[in-house]
Amino acid sequence: MTISKYTKVAIRAAYASGLLIKRSVGKISNVSYKGRDNIVTNVDRSSEELIIKMILRAFPDHSILSEESSPIDSGSRYRWVIDPIDGTTNFAHAFPFFCVSIALEESGKIILGVVYDPMRDEIFIAGQGRGATLNGKKIKVSRVDKLSNGFLATGFSYGITRKDRNIMHFSKLLVKTQAIRRAGSAALDLCYVACGRFDGFWEMNLHPWDSAAASLIVREAKGVVTKFDGKSYSHYDKNILATNGRIHSQMVKVLS
Ligand code: IPD
Repeated sequence: MTISKYTKVAIRAAYASGLLIKRSVGKISNVSYKGRDNIVTNVDRSSEELIIKMILRAFPDHSILSEESSPIDSGSRYRWVIDPIDGTTNFAHAFPFFCVSIALEESGKIILGVVYDPMRDEIFIAGQGRGATLNGKKIKVSRVDKLSNGFLATGFSYGITRKDRNIMHFSKLLVKTQAIRRAGSAALDLCYVACGRFDGFWEMNLHPWDSAAASLIVREAKGVVTKFDGKSYSHYDKNILATNGRIHSQMVKVLS
């Protein structure tokens, strides 16, 4: 993969914020609530500040959409979509499954995705049409072709109630597959589909910053990403289904 100037800056920002996050595990000084179960920590905010500062230093005229702050709309056709910590609840409990997610849109289309897991020192990178890598090595989705052998992941969005439809999807799929994990970082779950650790992932009510970078990483690793009904997915859609392609229609059947 040719490392473009955008990729270089995204990688630098992901490593710098990842280090800050790793050093802050167990040392959070402030937690506030965006909802009953939806928290933000001082570390989300400092990670975000650092990433935005590094990006705008390199590309002062670009726009920014980031989870914890107001969007910056400069009118540029380039817009960075950032989750400074995807898996904040895990991070707050020192459960080591969270990441930094940085994507670049050109005219609304994702052209670059970088996801960094600072605890495992794993960096997933994809450029549109250039494939996907994990720590510099090309990655590809798994070859499992029967849902009954599938190792899947999902997540439950904040503000869940007993009537949440995903509980129904979860119980249906649980008895049709080998196993399901709910680890708490949509971006990392998607990257795990990309590198073949999971065979599929689905979730409802996601935000653009949760899936922007990692959905490109799955596609570039030859996976398939759609809405639950199999129709084309953009990171502005709420519900995502990402698989190795081979079990996709079997999952669409259950979810749609
Ligand atoms: C959350 C995580 C979680 C998913 C939630 C997301 P955040 O992102 O990705 O796995 O279930 O829907 O909002 O809030 O930790 O950045």
